[in-house]
Amino acid sequence: MMSRSQEDMKRRSYTEVFYTSTKPWLSRHDDVLSGDVRQEILRHQNEYPSTKNVLYLHFPFCAKRCDYCIYYSTSYKKNIVARYLRALEKEIDLVKETPYIQSTNFRCVYFGGGTPSLMNHNEIRRIFRVLSDSFLFTNDVEITFEANPSTLTDEKLHVLKESGCNRISLGIQSFRDEILRKNNCNHTVQRALYVIDLLLREGFVLNVDMLFGLENQTEKDLLFELNSLCSISKPLQLSLFPVRILPNTPLYEKTASTFEPEAHTENMITLDKTAENYLLKHSFIREEIPIFYYEKGSRAHVYNSAEARIIGLGPSAGTVLDRGFGVNISDVNEFCELLDQNESPNKSGTYLTEQQNYEKFVFNRILFMNRSLPDFRDIVAKRFNEYYGCELNGIYEKVVNDMLNKNYIFIKEGIIHFTKRFNKILDHFRLGAPSII
Ligand SMILES: C[S@@+](CC[C@H](N)C(=O)[O-])C[C@H]1O[C@@H](n2cnc3c(N)ncnc32)[C@H](O)[C@@H]1O
Ligand code: SF4
Repeated sequence: MMSRSQEDMKRRSYTEVFYTSTKPWLSRHDDVLSGDVRQEILRHQNEYPSTKNVLYLHFPFCAKRCDYCIYYSTSYKKNIVARYLRALEKEIDLVKETPYIQSTNFRCVYFGGGTPSLMNHNEIRRIFRVLSDSFLFTNDVEITFEANPSTLTDEKLHVLKESGCNRISLGIQSFRDEILRKNNCNHTVQRALYVIDLLLREGFVLNVDMLFGLENQTEKDLLFELNSLCSISKPLQLSLFPVRILPNTPLYEKTASTFEPEAHTENMITLDKTAENYLLKHSFIREEIPIFYYEKGSRAHVYNSAEARIIGLGPSAGTVLDRGFGVNISDVNEFCELLDQNESPNKSGTYLTEQQNYEKFVFNRILFMNRSLPDFRDIVAKRFNEYYGCELNGIYEKVVNDMLNKNYIFIKEGIIHFTKRFNKILDHFRLGAPSII
């Protein structure tokens, strides 16, 4: 039987549900259900098998923690990684026979982190074999591996290619060693350039992650970074992140005494414009999700978190589906202990009604997309129709009203902007990069 709080959840707008959904990444919350929400959702067939279905695997280890990083990872230790990968295989066993998985052909596989390139070549070979034995994929499946230049070797690349990986997302962050050193990054610029060259020669689709706004970056500093990027004369994808300075990171501790969130956001918006002007003049195309660019001759990003149906595996991974979402516990040891006993690591989540699910789509577009595009509402309507096969009707207006009423947004000259209150709430949200424009 459904509890009173579950009944109450069903009546809420998605805008209200979102607030509670940011919490499981931090702590338990009354309104978020405890228990294996994911397994319950996976008991149903996938109603949208031919849309963008994503399999996400989280590899929660890094050689060193970068000072700015907001994602969950812990220090690399060979034997803990081996134990973790065994647990991950057990988690795959728990979900692979469910009706949802059995009725899904995955269009994207994404190894995120942490730093998946820390796996050794035997571990890489083995996990790819487990995946191909357990899941179905589309013929054009895109398989991405997140990598750090310091740990991606020729040998690992060879195994990745042989195993079917066709895209690498490389954490470059900056083309200045001084910035990398100051932020405790594990690689050097020289190493990054070597790995980029290798990847392009091997024919991988290559995305590079870069950050802007670190170390009081000026427009001139940013142009130096982009100029360095453009001197690599091959088609690339670029994810250009405005740096988020969030509690519980060394960067936050270092800057806390002088940090002013509004001034930071203003500065990021100026730098964002500088970057866009430069990149558009240098044969890059900007996508609707504004951290993404691609160079002519490459291709747009396939996976974006605003509109994907995601099965998440590994500590802290989220499963985000139409009927609701489930979140795995974050701690690696706890994760391994649970799976040693064949118990699910999915310990919290929320069910969504059809209405809440439709509202989620619009909400996520407002959250991640470039809201300043002149035809923003029309784009949302078009994407909504592609995603659900039905009309948007009044859902856009409802979500905008709900967000206005909650004081999450305000509208100026026809463009939606986030309020201070909403930006504060977003500090608890560590999946994807909320749009600043
Ligand atoms: C989950 S990380 C994985 C990439 C890989 N581990 C690496 O850095 O070499 C994905 C990207 O998130 C971005 N990122 C990390 N912390 C961030 C922050 N505080 N603000 C904005 N982007 C951030 C970085 O650009 C990073 O490459
Ligand atoms: S940015 Fe990448 S390498 Fe650095 S701590 Fe985060 S996940 Fe690890």
